[in-house]
Amino acid sequence: MENYALQMKAITKEFPGVRALDNVTFSVRKGEIHALCGENGAGKSTLMKVLSGVYPHGTYDGQILINGQKVELKSIKESQNAGVSIIYQELALVEEMSVAENLFLSHDLMRARIIDWNKIYSEAQKWLDHIGLDIDPQTKVGHLTVGKQQLIEIAKALTQKTEILILDEPTAALTESDVDILIKLLNDLRAEGVTCIYISHKLGEVMTLADTVTIIRDGQTVSTDRIEDLSEEMIITKMVGRELTELFPYEERPISSENILDVKNYTVIDPLGKKIINDVSFTLKKGEILGFSGLMGAGRTELFMSLFGGLRGNPTGTVLIDGKATMIKNPADAIREGLAYVSEDRKRYGLVLGMDITKNTTLAALNKMMKLKVIDNALEVKTAGDITYKMNLKAPNLEALVGQLSGGNQQKVVLSKWLLNDPKVLILDEPTRGIDVGAKYEIYKIINELASQGVGIVIVSSELPEVLGMSDRILVMAEGKITGEFSREEATQEKIMTCATGGEKS
Ligand SMILES: Nc1ncnc2c1ncn2[C@@H]1O[C@H](COP(=O)(O)OP(=O)(O)OP(=O)(O)O)[C@@H](O)[C@H]1O
Ligand SMILES: [Mg+2]
Repeated sequence: MENYALQMKAITKEFPGVRALDNVTFSVRKGEIHALCGENGAGKSTLMKVLSGVYPHGTYDGQILINGQKVELKSIKESQNAGVSIIYQELALVEEMSVAENLFLSHDLMRARIIDWNKIYSEAQKWLDHIGLDIDPQTKVGHLTVGKQQLIEIAKALTQKTEILILDEPTAALTESDVDILIKLLNDLRAEGVTCIYISHKLGEVMTLADTVTIIRDGQTVSTDRIEDLSEEMIITKMVGRELTELFPYEERPISSENILDVKNYTVIDPLGKKIINDVSFTLKKGEILGFSGLMGAGRTELFMSLFGGLRGNPTGTVLIDGKATMIKNPADAIREGLAYVSEDRKRYGLVLGMDITKNTTLAALNKMMKLKVIDNALEVKTAGDITYKMNLKAPNLEALVGQLSGGNQQKVVLSKWLLNDPKVLILDEPTRGIDVGAKYEIYKIINELASQGVGIVIVSSELPEVLGMSDRILVMAEGKITGEFSREEATQEKIMTCATGGEKS
């Protein structure tokens, strides 16, 4: 008999108008890393919320067995007591508190009438050593990188006797070196017998980490296979239900000789006096796709946020849009001048979660939705319908609230919104983070189409294959400066990484 840590049987979960899970079966062996794959909106996060008690027993159909025992998890607390810990992409740590305080937040150690700080710090140190993180337990969590915070979340889960650890897209926002630390930690935990459920759209990671892969599509289980019996291509085919031969549909296009954007000697000093952008100069041609590569913190997001008028600080230098010198003081100016900026943090900058899909999609293009000074609702709905169909958005209908969409589908709404704005320059900051392979392909095709219409496109991305696969030209940044420039033909991962880390001008 197989030794299962978890069995979920015939799980069905409905939301008004959507059957998110339809008779899903999911069995995880003790001590394995089990990847859960599927397109955006397939039901991965919902299944894990059923397991972790976010959707309590009674709000879904089906059965859950942990270590062979039937359980009825009525709350998050009950699920935790049964040994289940879930780590979401949105981190739940208290930034103002120290690492040690966060680790033992709900622990008896912190609840004692007189808190024994020596003990807390020494216990915290033990857990930090255990997960291989070399930081002082007194460090404020807010001072750590997202990746380190993620590791602290895992350590916190481990202090609570976790037997089943769920990671829902843990690496979407991590730097490569933090991903490596995470992968090593998960391998160590496997050796200790912790069972792990791993959700990720990065299939390379799935191939290196997982022992077993379950694929779900449209709320139904497609298959469960051992990793030896799978290839990345097979996972993709099972996920999207068709073969996808090329990942990057790059097309040779004639690129105009006219600059659509010309940035000269651009420097930004932040309110604390720190030079965050240091004398950056570059041009972008009409119809060109320009990739921006670099490590996290290199200043790429700051550069484009600032050009878009959305960063505090004092920029100097000149910016020409379509040959005309411009002064952009805020995002409204930027939109008027023809810039569009799709941000990496969709919740903070991109969407109104309490509004429906139609309204979110047409938000930046309302002037085009006007007829005789009032918004033409029919036109608005048609426009939103057309673009979201193109993007292959999965939602019950256009009146659905954006906050109820799956993560990847929210990102598609952000993109739709800016595409409708007919920009001259489209700046995409981590455009495909959290997006499934099939939808990435659709987004790349739209990017190509816009470029061939003469839109200048900037892709800021931490994923080298994406930058290499889609760009006509690539600039590399490090420490607020441009440290390298490569044509599509010259560029390689190694050359880019050298410029991103060493900061040598090529
Ligand atoms: N609270 C909710 N209310 C209504 N519908 C919901 C809610 N949560 C999820 N859904 C719907 O259930 C389906 C499955 O969503 P889920 O978040 O589980 O997808 P996912 O596989 O995690 O996708 P992604 O890769 O984009 O994160 C989607 O159609 C989504 O819109
Ligand atoms: Mg999800």
